[in-house]
Amino acid sequence: MSRALRPLLPVVDTLLDRAVVPGYSKLGYALRRSWWDADLPADALLGHCVVVTGANSGLGRATAAGAARLGATVRMLCRDLGRGQRAREEILADCPDATVVVDECDLSSLKSVRAAAARLRDELPSLRGLVHNAGVMPPERTETDDGHELTVATHVLGPHLLTAELQPLLAADSDARVVFVSSGGMYTSRLRTDDPEFHEGTYGGAAAYARTKRMQVVLAQLWAQRLPGVGVHAMHPGWAGTPGITDSLPRFARLVGPILRSAEQGADTAVWLLGAPAAGRTSGLFWHDRRPRPTSYLPFTRSTPQEAERLWDYCAVATRG
Ligand SMILES: NC(=O)c1ccc[n+]([C@@H]2O[C@H](COP(=O)([O-])OP(=O)(O)OC[C@H]3O[C@@H](n4cnc5c(N)ncnc54)[C@H](OP(=O)(O)O)[C@@H]3O)[C@@H](O)[C@H]2O)c1
Repeated sequence: MSRALRPLLPVVDTLLDRAVVPGYSKLGYALRRSWWDADLPADALLGHCVVVTGANSGLGRATAAGAARLGATVRMLCRDLGRGQRAREEILADCPDATVVVDECDLSSLKSVRAAAARLRDELPSLRGLVHNAGVMPPERTETDDGHELTVATHVLGPHLLTAELQPLLAADSDARVVFVSSGGMYTSRLRTDDPEFHEGTYGGAAAYARTKRMQVVLAQLWAQRLPGVGVHAMHPGWAGTPGITDSLPRFARLVGPILRSAEQGADTAVWLLGAPAAGRTSGLFWHDRRPRPTSYLPFTRSTPQEAERLWDYCAVATRG
């Protein structure tokens, strides 16, 4: 990229973002990638451990592979050990020297999250990165064994509890990072703490998904305030061709199929946030394609600090042991 054009890049980048389709697609990724600084060094995470939830598929598997390629010891938290092992083998086929371990963890189960965190605390001295990637979009309102609605349990309560339980390990690393994999879909939703479990009205999977993805962005900001010294980030991957999209939104996937990103392209910013020095100097921001983005465009989607604190209180009560 010529020096003369460089001052224009932020403008082009912002235009791509506001136009949504080009920015979220592989076109946006390809354009932005052409002007990024050099990639992280191959040893950026060497000697450090990274935990990725929902790591057996799609973006989670790509994030685990990306962290392994940067030298991290990777703990893949998966609800199905067989699927986890198969994904581990695929990662090792690509990166044979990596240390990759599969741990059983159902993020929607508070008991399972506590058990996985206890194992990690027993086995690890410290934690460089925790990526909250596991995601679902159920067509109907479903409750977990704990009695919580499934999307809020998977996207919000499980990650909240896991972060709390792994705090000692994060505190033991001088440059720890936590990454919430949210979604651009959260822009359509405001924070709702009056009905966090979707008891009112007709349940819609996409609406519950967007609302809980909004909660993740606010939760990242709340954790950023409470974890000094840890970089807590939320990000969105754009649109990537993963089972999450093709199975949950088949019509959308067919419509935008040719312009979907690969899983690696969608996971790029999550991996970058784990290792980039620039990301370590910030906390509480919302990222896409290696750049902080606004958290709201529509005025009705902005929340007050009081509403955010109500989310914290809800999470604290709902995850109490
Ligand atoms: N793909 C996109 O374009 C896109 C866009 C915006 C945001 N995202 C976000 O990216 C994340 C990954 O999605 P994806 O597209 O890669 O979809 P995916 O291929 O369906 O992956 C989702 C992963 O989450 C796991 N998971 C779901 N519920 C879980 C639970 N209770 N406990 C543990 N693991 C659980 C799944 O495990 P199983 O295999 O066992 O089901 C799977 O490994 C999600 O948070 C999603 O919201 C994706």
